Order: sequence, then structure tokens, then C-alpha cells
Amino acid sequence: MSRPLHLAIVGATGAVGIELMHVLTRRGFPVSRLTLLASARSVGKTLDFQGEQIPVRELREDSFTGVDVAFFSAGASISKKFAPFAVQAGAVVVDNSSAFRMDENVPLVIPEINGDDVKLNRGIIANPNCTTAVTLMGLWPLHRAFGVNRVIAASYQAVSGTGAQAIQELRLQIEALAAGREPSWTVYPHQIAFNVLPHVDSFLDTGYTKEEMKMQNEGRRIMHHPGFLASVTCVRVPVYRAHSVAVNAQFDRPVSLDRAREVLSTFPGLRLVDNPAKNEYPLPLRVAGKDDCEIGRLRIDCALENAIAFWISGDQLLKGAALNAVQIAELI
Ligand code: A2P
Repeated sequence: MSRPLHLAIVGATGAVGIELMHVLTRRGFPVSRLTLLASARSVGKTLDFQGEQIPVRELREDSFTGVDVAFFSAGASISKKFAPFAVQAGAVVVDNSSAFRMDENVPLVIPEINGDDVKLNRGIIANPNCTTAVTLMGLWPLHRAFGVNRVIAASYQAVSGTGAQAIQELRLQIEALAAGREPSWTVYPHQIAFNVLPHVDSFLDTGYTKEEMKMQNEGRRIMHHPGFLASVTCVRVPVYRAHSVAVNAQFDRPVSLDRAREVLSTFPGLRLVDNPAKNEYPLPLRVAGKDDCEIGRLRIDCALENAIAFWISGDQLLKGAALNAVQIAELI
């Protein structure tokens, strides 16, 4: 890597923002200066970065002078409004929101899959949806081996994917219920503790949610596979951290479990954990805080032709967000 860079984090106080600082440190990313940006509510706070207390500043149009790379993780509307100012100031934006993911002029990148697309950027690079990123880490090596044509999947998504307030909501509900009190909620439309919600993101006219369509829409761009089909049910579960996805994937060519295991066990960023006889399979609790996604429960699908069923878990704050964003910055 070349000279140390001036980085900015928009949404520094959020779940992904905090994780970005950890990942930068862990990977030894060369940082000359770090500018932390959030809403006016956070002005006065400081955050620790490598032993230095850095003040959080209010995000403004002129926040990006001298910034080389700006990580955005404060939601799509903030990205749409402020990313152009960062680009104008000469920064490359790595955007964690959905704002630019379907923009033809913005590469959508998982470095292990389509890292070369970073070169096509005109100032903004998009980080994929977290459930899509975790799923594609397992699907892509299988696609290269057998040629995927469709997936049917159900996700089991952790509350940290919604943000810091949702983590707090689950914690408070568990505490209330354990103490015999009535739980309350504001982030989700129902109680999340000891429940599962078949509802992630807003509903479309088709009956799918926006989140559910991201696997197909973003998968097509990342895999350069315009005919890829995905029917997904996204479910929020009372897990603090790490998403899991149950996937049935159908392929153009005949599949073999031996070949599938071979391509999965050698793919960077992925661990094959598949020994059901010993109760060994991917678990969100175990992948939480880890860079690698885990894949297991591999089997020939009994209901679809040329198909494999699998279970994959990955820390969505890492591979689904902060880690992938820093890996993109490393490619820049
Ligand atoms: P703040 O803490 O000041 O509200 P999460 O996804 O964990 O909820 O985090 C969202 C992040 O986006 C936080 O850092 C939050 O800052 C930031 N954010 C929310 N609204 C704005 C805004 N209007 N301007 C700048 N940052 C914002």
C-alpha cells in the first residue's frame, strides 16, 4: 500500500461506523488522518481510534476537504445528498447504503468476486447489501463450478443490521421480559425478543420486500450474470450479530458435492464447516466478530434438479459492511 490516507467516516457513531474503525486498525490500513462525521446530535462526543480521542463533527457539505477516501454509513438519503460533495472535493466514496447500488456508473463490489470492477469507478463505489454479500460468498464459487441459474432462500438476519437502536431495543426487551415487565418497541413493528419477524425493509406491490429483491438485483451486477433469479424471504431474528441464510441453488450443469466442497474450502474469506455428525455447522454466534463467512449443511437438493442446499452464516457488520468496505478501499 502507498502513502497513508486521510479517511472520513460518515455515520461514525453508528454500528457500522464503529466497526469500520476496528477493521482499519486490525488490517493495519495506513491512515494519516481520520475525520469522524455524524449528525448534530453527536457533536461533543469523541471516539477512540488507536489510542487517540477524535472529536465527532457534524456532517456538512464542506466536510470533505483533503479527504482521500470517505466511508458512508448513515443511510441512503444522507449518501445521496452528501456523497456528491465528497466526490467534488476529490475523495473516493465507499458507500454502504443502497443509494447507488443499482446505478450503472457505480461499481458494486465484493473484492473476492469482482474486485476488478473497482477500476471502473467515477468517484463512488457501492458496498452490497449485507445478506446478499454473505450469500454470494458461498454462491459465487459454486456458480463458477456449475453455473447458477436461480436460488430460493430464507434469511435469518441479526438486529445489528438495523443499527445501534435495534440492538438496544432487543436488549431492553429481554431485560424487561426477564424481570416480568411488559416489553415495548419503537424500531420494529412487533416485539423482536423471543420472536421472528418475516419483514425486513419496506413492502413492494409484488408482496416481496425491497430487501428480498436485493439478492437478485445486486447478485446480477456483482456476478455479471443478468439472468440470475432469486426468490428470497427475509426474516429478522433475535440475534445480536451475524446473518444466516438457508439457500437452495439450482445450476445449469450437473452438481457434485465433492467438487462443491473443493471449491468452497479453497475460496478466500470462506470456511467450510460441515460435519453434521459432530454437530458442526455454521452458527451466527461463532462467526460474530470474525472476518470469514462459514458455509455448511451442504447437500444435494431433493426437490430441485441440479441443485445444492446449503446454510451460510457471516458477520454482516464485517463482510456485509465494514470489512468489505475496507477491502474495497485497499483495492483503491
Ligand atoms: P448520530 O449518532 O449522530 O445520530 P446506525 O445505523 O447504527 O443507527 O447509525 C446511523 C449513523 O448515521 C449514526 O452515526 C448517525 O449519527 C448517523 N446519522 C443519522 N442521521 C444523520 C444525519 N442527518 N447527518 C449525519 N449523520 C447522521
